[in-house]
Amino acid sequence: MTVETTSRSTGVEPAGTLQWGRRYLMVSPDHFRVAYAINPFMDLADQPDPVAARTQWQGLADAIRAAGAEVEVLGQRADAPDMVYAMNLGLVLDDRVAISHMRHAERRTESATAQPWFAAAGFAPTYVGRDGVGPHLEAGDAFAFGDALVVGYGPRTEELALKHLAAELDVRVRGLRLTHPGMYHLDLAFCPVDERRALVCPSAFDDASARALLDLVPEPIVLTQEEALTTFAANSVVVGRTVLMPGVPDHVRARLEAAGFEVVVVDVREFHKGGGSVRCLTNPIDVRRGRDLPVVPGGEVVLPA
Ligand code: ARG
Repeated sequence: MTVETTSRSTGVEPAGTLQWGRRYLMVSPDHFRVAYAINPFMDLADQPDPVAARTQWQGLADAIRAAGAEVEVLGQRADAPDMVYAMNLGLVLDDRVAISHMRHAERRTESATAQPWFAAAGFAPTYVGRDGVGPHLEAGDAFAFGDALVVGYGPRTEELALKHLAAELDVRVRGLRLTHPGMYHLDLAFCPVDERRALVCPSAFDDASARALLDLVPEPIVLTQEEALTTFAANSVVVGRTVLMPGVPDHVRARLEAAGFEVVVVDVREFHKGGGSVRCLTNPIDVRRGRDLPVVPGGEVVLPA
């Protein structure tokens, strides 16, 4: 398989539209269940319905394709019930992928299947840690935004991973410390929607990081803790001027529509039982240095003062 390097952008999109997010990896929910509890949403007594989960997953894949993006599908390992949350498999930049080194051993087998898939798709693997050795990195903690790779650390990704990532990938990494147990990945509290706007839930972070993030986003669309946790609104996917969301508070919809976005609500509630939603189920594999974030030779880590 070859890596597609051309953008689908037609040129009629408003300036500032995100260029990445036109090609995704998803993992089919062949063995999705709640087999352990590694985040506050997971309850072994509240299992997903496999038929409903399959229908919702298909609905999401269809909605992404309808919005104009491509979806590649990888099958799920039987021993990896959380593997449906494809965002966590690895972080793609250009033709490389930083394979996740999961915090919890329960998820580490996923990497053994993800790596050959990425390799066959043309992405060379790099590791900041693996098999329990070295710092943890979970790709749901990272986004290209503005002048950097913005990376959440604390609950899952470790601070030390930021240095490795920056050096390996030759990018500036802006670290933000997550402190809320329910927003254990950055993508539960932050969602870039274009070059100026992003959904932001400040209560996920310590004070310095919340301030740093609000300074980074010229026009933040602020979510309360309750909105973030009950609607999973920050766990959305943007394809050009379409925002695919699991739920949307009225004020957020109004802001997005005023900025020229179409909001599409996609029901993936079965997957909320595992603590993930639209963004966790999808992994953009078309993020490029030099276009979506600058190349910084040798890398650089910036932490909030
Ligand atoms: N049960 C999974 C975990 O706790 C959910 C992953 C959610 N993914 C995400 N990108 N936030 O690891």
